[in-house]
Amino acid sequence: MKKGKKLYEGKAKIIYATNDKNLVIQYFKDDATAFNNQKKTTIEGKGVLNNRISEHILSNLSQIGIKNHLVKRLNMREQIIKLVEIIPIEFIVRNVATGSITKRLGIEDGTVLKEPLIEYCLKNDKLGDPLISEDHILAFDWASKNEIDKVKKMILRINDFMIGMFRGVGIKLIDFKLEFGRIKIDEKNEVILADEISPDTCRLWDSITEKKLDKDRFRKDLGDLIPAYTEVARRLGILHEQSNVSAVNVTKLSSIKRKKK
Ligand code: TMP
Ligand code: ASP
Repeated sequence: MKKGKKLYEGKAKIIYATNDKNLVIQYFKDDATAFNNQKKTTIEGKGVLNNRISEHILSNLSQIGIKNHLVKRLNMREQIIKLVEIIPIEFIVRNVATGSITKRLGIEDGTVLKEPLIEYCLKNDKLGDPLISEDHILAFDWASKNEIDKVKKMILRINDFMIGMFRGVGIKLIDFKLEFGRIKIDEKNEVILADEISPDTCRLWDSITEKKLDKDRFRKDLGDLIPAYTEVARRLGILHEQSNVSAVNVTKLSSIKRKKK
């Protein structure tokens, strides 16, 4: 597979063309942003951890029949993914109220929701990803009714699966963000799960201590983001004990090797 030109650069990832028109390479950067880019920094090793964690979750979701864009992980920072037309909506799934919903609606932080709550935000950085309703989506043709219905069914299965997966390793899945894309499979139009699922896009709390193991460590200046993401990876069984020196050291090692060549 040959890596071609840069097609798109987002806040945390870069997409490159390949010699196959249906496939692209997704590169995970170390950049961290919050509050729609108002706060930014670079956290060495974050991209490596998100690449591994996202690969783990998406390949597990494939196994339960949730079609997604992942083809395979290429190396520490890159994955081959299927090229999709991204639906311009961020689907937010909440099991416990925290973050923006507590401020927007005055809900007490930590309120456990009776049912998973799905919110839609328009994917538009200039407008600050505003909250929208299903009627807005239909009115402006951002997705069809059929697509929304399919996506909602997938979201509930993904949520059930991920709650169980994280519960098994002592982590509460508080909320997360998903994106979906359109693709033709065997001449049929399909909607599949796209983008990453990682501690950048989920809120993950330790089940007992409620310690935050996600990007809130950066948003709220709590520090120790890499140890928290490493802990998530270790509990999911992605980092083996002996190689658990930390992803940062692994990154350093790989860049030293590259320089030597
Ligand atoms: P929020 O409480 O800030 O609305 O975030 C809800 C969840 O969605 C949380 O897990 C973080 C995730 N999220 C993203 O991944 N990207 C975003 O741009 C936003 C606003 C939230
Ligand atoms: N990803 C968004 C941003 O860059 C928001 C967030 O994750 O808090 O700014």
